[in-house]
Amino acid sequence: MLKKHYKLLLKCALAIPLIFLVDFCGILTHLYELDFETHYYYPLHNDSASPPLNYKFLQLPAFTSKHDSADPPRLTILVKSAIGNAKRRQAIRKTWGYEARFSDVHIKRAFMLGTPTEGASVKDATLEEAKQHGDIIRADFVDAYFNNTIKTMMGLRWASEHFNTSDFYLFVDDDYYVSIKNVLRFLGKGRQTHHQSLLYAGYVIQSAPLRHKFSKWYVSLEEYPFDKWPAYVTAGAFVLSRDALLKMYAVGRSIPLFRFDDIFLGMVALRARIPVHHCDDFHFDRPKYYGPDSYSDVIASHGFGDPAEMERVWNECRSANYA
Ligand SMILES: *[C@@H]1O[C@H](CO)[C@@H](O)[C@H](O)[C@H]1NC(C)=O
Ligand SMILES: *[C@@H]1O[C@H](CO)[C@@H](O)[C@H](O)[C@H]1NC(C)=O
Ligand SMILES: *[C@@H]1O[C@H](CO)[C@@H](O)[C@H](O)[C@H]1NC(C)=O
Repeated sequence: MLKKHYKLLLKCALAIPLIFLVDFCGILTHLYELDFETHYYYPLHNDSASPPLNYKFLQLPAFTSKHDSADPPRLTILVKSAIGNAKRRQAIRKTWGYEARFSDVHIKRAFMLGTPTEGASVKDATLEEAKQHGDIIRADFVDAYFNNTIKTMMGLRWASEHFNTSDFYLFVDDDYYVSIKNVLRFLGKGRQTHHQSLLYAGYVIQSAPLRHKFSKWYVSLEEYPFDKWPAYVTAGAFVLSRDALLKMYAVGRSIPLFRFDDIFLGMVALRARIPVHHCDDFHFDRPKYYGPDSYSDVIASHGFGDPAEMERVWNECRSANYA
C-alpha cells in the first residue's frame, strides 16, 4: 500500500518538471495564438492615454540646413551606430560611407546615436567627433538595444522633417559591408527608376514570434498575440524611396512603438500599404568571402563587426570595381 503511494508520488514529481519544460519551450503558448491572416491588427490597445514619444534632437549633421535644392542627393546613408563604436564609424567614413566616392553621384552620410547611460564618460569624445565630421544625429534617449526602434524612428524623423530632398535613403547598421556601387545599380539610373515610387526593400523575412522563454527574443502573447509577424525587411540594411520614407514616418509616429525595430517597420509598411520588396543581394547571413569575385553582386552583408576586416574586404572589392 505504502509502496503504491510512493510510486504515484514519484510519477507526479516527474510530471511537474515536464509540464514546466513544455511551458518553458512555449508549446502551450502556440495553442493560444491568434491566426495572423484573419485577426491581425495593430496597435493592440487603443489607449489614447499612451503618451506620444517625446525626444529632442541634441545634434544634427552640419549639412542639414545647408542643402542646395538644385542638387538634391541621390542617396542618403543613415548608419545606425552606438556611442562606443567610434572605430567602426571611422572605417565607414573611409569606405562605403565616403561621400565623394563617385564624382557624378551626390551622396550624404550620417550616423544615428542616442545618449550614454549615466556616468559614462564617452560623451565628450562623441561631441568632438561630431564637431570634426559634422555627420552625427543624436537625440536624448538612452542608447540601448531595445531602444533601437527609437533610433530608427529618429532617423526617419530627421530625414522627413529636415532632409527630405534625397531620392533614396539607405539605413544600415555599423557592422555591415556595403557596396554603394551595387546599391546605386539596384536603384537604377535617373529620376525614373524601374521601382515604384514607394520602395521599401532589402532582405525580407516572414517569420513567427519566438515563444520559448529562454530566447533573447521571447515574446509573450500579451505583447503580440498572433502566430506570424507581418513581412518585414531585416533592420540591418534597407532602402526607402523618399515617398516611402515620408509615409512610413507619418504612419510610424502615430502608433505606439514596438520593441523590435525591423518588425515595427513591417507593421508600419502594412498599415501604410507599402509593399515589401525582397532582394537576394542584401545578406543577413554573411556569405563566405573568397576574394572580391565572390562579392561581385553583394549589396550589403551583415557580419562585419571588425572594422579592420571590413576595410580590407571593401578595399579589395573596390579595387576589383565591385564597391
Ligand atoms: C479603438 O478605437 C476605434 C476608433 O478609434 C474603435 O472603433 C474601437 O472600438 C476601439 N477599440 C477598443 C478595443 O477600444
Ligand atoms: C530608452 O530610452 C529611454 C529614454 O531615454 C529610457 O528611459 C529607457 O530606459 C531606455 N530603454 C532602455 C531599454 O534602455
Ligand atoms: C521638408 O523639409 C523642410 C525643411 O528642409 C521642411 O520645412 C518641411 O516641412 C519638410 N517636409 C515634411 C513633409 O516634413
